[in-house]
Amino acid sequence: MTGGLGYIGSHACVALAQKAIPFVIVDNLANSSLGVIDRLAELVGYRPPFVEGDIRDGDLLVETMERHAIGAVMHFAGSKAVGESVAMPLDYYVNNVAGSLTLFAAMVRTGVKTLIFSSSATIYAQTNAMPLAEHAALGASNPYGRTKLFVEQILFDLSVSDPAWSIACLRYFNPVGAHPSGLIGESPRGTPNNLVPYIAQVAVGRREYLSVFGGDYETEDGTGVRDYVHVLDVAEGHVMALDYLRRHAGCVAVNLGTGRGMSVLDMLHEYERASGRSIAYEVTGRRPGDVARCWAQVSLARDLFGWQATREVEQMCQDSWRWQLANPDGYA
Ligand SMILES: NC(=O)c1ccc[n+]([C@@H]2O[C@H](COP(=O)([O-])OP(=O)(O)OC[C@H]3O[C@@H](n4cnc5c(N)ncnc54)[C@H](O)[C@@H]3O)[C@@H](O)[C@H]2O)c1
Repeated sequence: MTGGLGYIGSHACVALAQKAIPFVIVDNLANSSLGVIDRLAELVGYRPPFVEGDIRDGDLLVETMERHAIGAVMHFAGSKAVGESVAMPLDYYVNNVAGSLTLFAAMVRTGVKTLIFSSSATIYAQTNAMPLAEHAALGASNPYGRTKLFVEQILFDLSVSDPAWSIACLRYFNPVGAHPSGLIGESPRGTPNNLVPYIAQVAVGRREYLSVFGGDYETEDGTGVRDYVHVLDVAEGHVMALDYLRRHAGCVAVNLGTGRGMSVLDMLHEYERASGRSIAYEVTGRRPGDVARCWAQVSLARDLFGWQATREVEQMCQDSWRWQLANPDGYA
């Protein structure tokens, strides 16, 4: 598993351990900390094998895959901040695209041809009607989104070139929440880019108020609407996708969302209920590149993997709050 110490990867570790599926984590700690391993050990009952290393180091990947007799790869590693990707496009193309190419080449060298790739709803064109089905028009509006789109296209080409590949590109909508133990969760460095970690930091007193980007969208309350999905549902989606890939060759792209949209203000009020605290906010201008509404069509994940999101927004907020309260400064 690449990027297994990160937010989604660490929850996937728990989901795999729950099914007694062994795994090895490769992470360069660019956006995570070693403390995650202690927390995982507490949760799963053993210290998961960890290799500190970079996905751009092909020899290290080959050696790791051979030593541990790896049969499949979950590829979470990458950089994910949209704004940063606009400022530093080359860094994003090198880490997300060149890094992925190095990983795929290492998989070819070791004969590992089962792969789950962390893609994103951000690769859908902004002109689509809701809900977004997997066959909707694609078109990213920033370098981060383009790295995801390019890698998906590379993977489709790869599967055409060699029918032995089994690949799932999982297009996450908005993963939020944390493990209910409060031991692992999202620990953003610097200013959070996503809504829920930001709300959480306001609720816990680390930030004064939430900036709501745009109050004049054509939505019920004027704020942007998104499809928030519990990170543990996303993690379990990977385990179910892996099971599917063991039985099916080819390359599929599949949405992971709930199929329901919630506005920024709906989410804020839900978080107020979960935390018992009032959350100050200020509506400011729209953020370039943001769409008014975005939610998933979710039938494909159900039809192929037998997966559907089971956790409600109430639990997303309660779990996020438990994590935030127990770890006000994240893993720091
Ligand atoms: N969180 C979201 O909202 C979201 C939505 C859609 C897609 N995704 C994608 O899902 C994946 C996981 O996201 P996340 O939220 O867990 O992010 P994260 O930053 O918490 O986790 C990514 C992990 O990858 C590691 N990493 C980065 N570059 C690396 C490299 N070159 N070599 C080895 N390790 C490296 C980081 O240290 C980190 O632990 C990413 O690819 C992201 O783009 C995330």
